[in-house]
Amino acid sequence: MENSQAVVGLGYVGLSVAEAASAVGGDVVGIDVEPGKVASLNEGRSPVDVLADDDLALMLDRGFRATTDAAVLASCDTVVICVPTPLDADRRPDLSLVRTAAETVARHLRPGTLVVVESTIWPGATEDVVLPLLEHGSGLTAGADFHLAYSPERVDCGNPEFDIRNTPKVVAGHTQACADRAAAFYGKFIGEIVPVAGIREAELCKLLENTYRSVNIALVNEMAVFCDELGIDLWESIRAAATKPFGFERFLPGPGVGGHCIPVDPLYLTHAVRALGRPFRLVELAVEVNEAMPEHVFSRVQRQLNGEGKCLQGADVLVVGVTYKPDVADLRESPATPLVRSLRRAGARVTFADPLVEEWSVDAGPGTPTEPGRPTPPLDNTPGHTPAAAQPPLPPKPGGPRRPGPASSKQPLREPGALARTTTAGGRRSGPGPTPAAPGPAGAAKTTARGHRTAPGTLG
Ligand SMILES: NC(=O)c1ccc[n+]([C@@H]2O[C@H](COP(=O)([O-])OP(=O)(O)OC[C@H]3O[C@@H](n4cnc5c(N)ncnc54)[C@H](O)[C@@H]3O)[C@@H](O)[C@H]2O)c1
Repeated sequence: MENSQAVVGLGYVGLSVAEAASAVGGDVVGIDVEPGKVASLNEGRSPVDVLADDDLALMLDRGFRATTDAAVLASCDTVVICVPTPLDADRRPDLSLVRTAAETVARHLRPGTLVVVESTIWPGATEDVVLPLLEHGSGLTAGADFHLAYSPERVDCGNPEFDIRNTPKVVAGHTQACADRAAAFYGKFIGEIVPVAGIREAELCKLLENTYRSVNIALVNEMAVFCDELGIDLWESIRAAATKPFGFERFLPGPGVGGHCIPVDPLYLTHAVRALGRPFRLVELAVEVNEAMPEHVFSRVQRQLNGEGKCLQGADVLVVGVTYKPDVADLRESPATPLVRSLRRAGARVTFADPLVEEWSVDAGPGTPTEPGRPTPPLDNTPGHTPAAAQPPLPPKPGGPRRPGPASSKQPLREPGALARTTTAGGRRSGPGPTPAAPGPAGAAKTTARGHRTAPGTLG
């Protein structure tokens, strides 16, 4: 067996691992089921904004290659599984992609290989779901013939301070030898390894981190709704509270939560608890509060227009900032999507401005235009302003899966119903022009209860 490493699933997480492993001289191969993504990577075009084209070029120079052919796994001594873990149409954890990946790895598994799961899964899933698939498909025994470990990814896209190298890495193994082998692998390119006694504890660690964020964001989000009605500037209160040097961590309200983790991972945790026959009430409530925020923003827009004797029917609304948090191009689970649905349903014409997003569409429903991004006369004098063509109201919200497929946010969504983009002059906080502005989820200027504008917030 050659001394090479395979990353299965070349998205935000997989490419971060692949880049870091490759940078220290690892012979890294990436496996993905999307031929387009594989071709793009091999041609030097990164599909995600966590990996710059320049860094991809260096990886390719060092021998990295991407493939759809899982047979390469047979020549690898380390396999890292980084495939998506979405929710299904009924908002239950969907491990089907992890299962498929495990079956694929099992077919090519050789004695002595280390298999690490990085995907976020419920506590117990590595040993209850992945392990049996690996053993059954390979005829080998975990802990005896091959090593099995779990190590949650902590990628925080857009974070200028922390990346995979300087973020402590939690590692747990099926046996102590499995844990040691995984720690040795990650120790080559990550500064601090945090051994955890058991795989379940490591799996729960990831869910605890993200559920902690979900609950605290829900706390300030619900406060924001009350403060709006009470005429209190919550942002000022948070600024004051954050001066306490202990016992308080600052979370900021926003139009909802987005991305691959915060809206999803708490439901992996509640799923595990519901197996006991009880709900995890606090966590479920937090999810509910966060999911209601786009509707709160919608009603604020409606109220502000009403205050000026206007209505949403026929109004031109500019959504400023549509990705789920500042400085990333990731549109997954962005609360801008349900906000746009509500605005359109009320008859508004919606455009958006986001320096990181070229094209974006929300629900191509019956009656929506089939000419995405069709240029129309400008609405204002913003440089490059290209407002949307008039959009008829949308049909009722579809009940499909909450998360889109694994398409990269760098790949434009080309489908009927695409929104026109308003190019801002100076980045995401550029003035919205004369159209009523619906606060975007990421980096959009927040309007407080008293109507003054404050700094953009982190939504998690
Ligand atoms: N994005 C983040 O910031 C982040 C942070 C921490 C943890 N995670 C977790 O990491 C996991 C991966 O997330 P991501 O954001 O990288 O997802 P992603 O959607 O960006 O990428 C996943 C990739 O896996 C590929 N894939 C799917 N099934 C496959 C299979 N059977 N074989 C090979 N490739 C397959 C997809 O085509 C896609 O390219 C998820 O469990 C997520 O919850 C994500």
